[in-house]
Amino acid sequence: MIRMEEVALAGRKVMIRVDMNTPLQDGRVADDRRIRACLPTIQTALGAGAAVILVSHLGRPDEGKFDARFSLRPVAEKLSELLGRAVPLLDDYLNGVDVACGAVAMCENVRFQPGETGDDAGLAARLARLCDVFVMDAFGCAHRAHASTHGVAQRAEVACAGPLLCSEIEHLQKVLEWMQTGRSGKAGAGLRVAVIGGAKVSGKMELLESFTGKLDALIVGGGIANTFLAARGHPVGGSLYEPGLVEFAKKYEAQARRCGMRLVLPSDVVCAGSLSAAATPVVKPPHEVGGGDLILDAGPDTVAEIGEVLSKAGVILWNGPLGAFECE
Ligand code: 3PG
Repeated sequence: MIRMEEVALAGRKVMIRVDMNTPLQDGRVADDRRIRACLPTIQTALGAGAAVILVSHLGRPDEGKFDARFSLRPVAEKLSELLGRAVPLLDDYLNGVDVACGAVAMCENVRFQPGETGDDAGLAARLARLCDVFVMDAFGCAHRAHASTHGVAQRAEVACAGPLLCSEIEHLQKVLEWMQTGRSGKAGAGLRVAVIGGAKVSGKMELLESFTGKLDALIVGGGIANTFLAARGHPVGGSLYEPGLVEFAKKYEAQARRCGMRLVLPSDVVCAGSLSAAATPVVKPPHEVGGGDLILDAGPDTVAEIGEVLSKAGVILWNGPLGAFECE
């Protein structure tokens, strides 16, 4: 893996694939952590005298057409505020990007381009032609073989890994070592615990499967927990969940039991009628969730149980938020 720090960037057009797929609310960025995480990479490239072109996706628009709901405009505005410099958003960029050395521009949502998610060779080649150096720094979508993540890296004159990607890989290597060595290994005493949250089970099935036999406890929260609760026969009302993966969740729980992995699911949940700061949250056991309820978080009993498990952990692998954190 060639690292960005090993590549000469001065005077070159440097395309950085970032993951600025951030939650939006009322046309504004609701959580800017992913944008902030990219700042050191962008600032390093700018400081080195590169002309920086940022590429990201946002959400899952219908490919091939512009849709204002998925525009990166709010993200470019937030980035501009955080960097303290202009970040123009380019709608039309495939024929060339005019950006000066020491300046930064952002391409509009790359998923508006036909062929992005299919890793189209033509699109990847056009992206590669826009730059001298391609930097893959989007860890959050490095598992996707798309034109802007995989295809472009095959075709760019120079392709390298950005600092954010390198740091995630280094941390994951430590975790993998720890999972292999287990409780008595170098990581020291303590349970092997993972916390999995976020919206989608579908994106995490392989991850969940890779845990069985390697963990002492798995804490499941967020939208994923709703699918597991549905698999236990609980009502989930209007909550985010994946009906098509209920069978997977059932089998997974049985498998976890067989290999002695403690599966921590919410024993109480925080519900509201809508995802809004004005809604009144109500704590209830999962079997009392009503048709109009949205499960938006774990309840206090669950939080206490999670705390108890985490207090015995040696190392904790955490992926994804455990509740609808975007909304106070
Ligand atoms: C994410 O938020 O999980 C990443 O940005 C990837 O998004 P995707 O699941 O739509 O590819």
